[in-house]
Amino acid sequence: MEKVILREINKYFGEKKNRIHVLTNVNFKAQKGELCLVLGPSGSGKSTFLTIAGGIQTPSSGEVLIDNVKLDSLKEKQKEQLRLEKIGFVLQNYSLVPYLRVEEQFELARRVKKEGNMNKADFTAVIKQLGIADLLNQYPRELSGGQRQRVAIARALYSNPDIIFADEPTAALDSQRVVEVGKLFRDLAHNHNKSVIIVTHDLRLKEYANRIYEIMDGNLKQV
Ligand SMILES: Nc1ncnc2c1ncn2[C@@H]1O[C@H](COP(=O)(O)OP(=O)(O)O)[C@@H](O)[C@H]1O
Ligand SMILES: [Mg+2]
Repeated sequence: MEKVILREINKYFGEKKNRIHVLTNVNFKAQKGELCLVLGPSGSGKSTFLTIAGGIQTPSSGEVLIDNVKLDSLKEKQKEQLRLEKIGFVLQNYSLVPYLRVEEQFELARRVKKEGNMNKADFTAVIKQLGIADLLNQYPRELSGGQRQRVAIARALYSNPDIIFADEPTAALDSQRVVEVGKLFRDLAHNHNKSVIIVTHDLRLKEYANRIYEIMDGNLKQV
């Protein structure tokens, strides 16, 4: 079953002679139970692609469907609700709340979405697998980039979303951690029937992917 579909997506930024064409006729599909990787160099349009696929940005033309619902048919409130219920984001800047301890970041997530979150046993296992069990009382500023990245991954998974969008989730991680994170995302796809979509330039993630796309200057193709 297709969880995410992009059809003929174009995205422009700027006006007239300053206009740049960032995504060109992008077509994309992600199924339930698979890990999709979108590989491309810096500036190729990965973050733009991911935020459009997840309904954070709107395309200039074309359509995005999540669970066969066209996003442009939804009101902003409905779109928010859909994101809250179905989507977990791991964004590039980690978007942790600076004045909350790690544990409180998860509590905040629990307050925003009260039901359907990961059960305690599963979440404890995720925290262990990500190696952040000892960091629960720390503030983001006390963490290394890699630790923050792993907390951001855990927080995205906490709400138990059907679809996980991750932007460069391994950029700050050493090779051993990349293996752990790759296995975790693969396990979520294969054993928990999630749809995991990762954009990255990190070739170390290739071996965990079911489907690989490449993006170059806003042109996406499956390889
Ligand atoms: N809000 C924006 N306004 C203008 N240009 C943008 C904006 N967001 C991204 N771009 C441009 O779009 C191109 C692709 O950016 P991005 O999607 O962030 O690529 P990547 O994530 O692959 O590094 C870049 O040239 C970037 O400068
Ligand atoms: Mg980016």
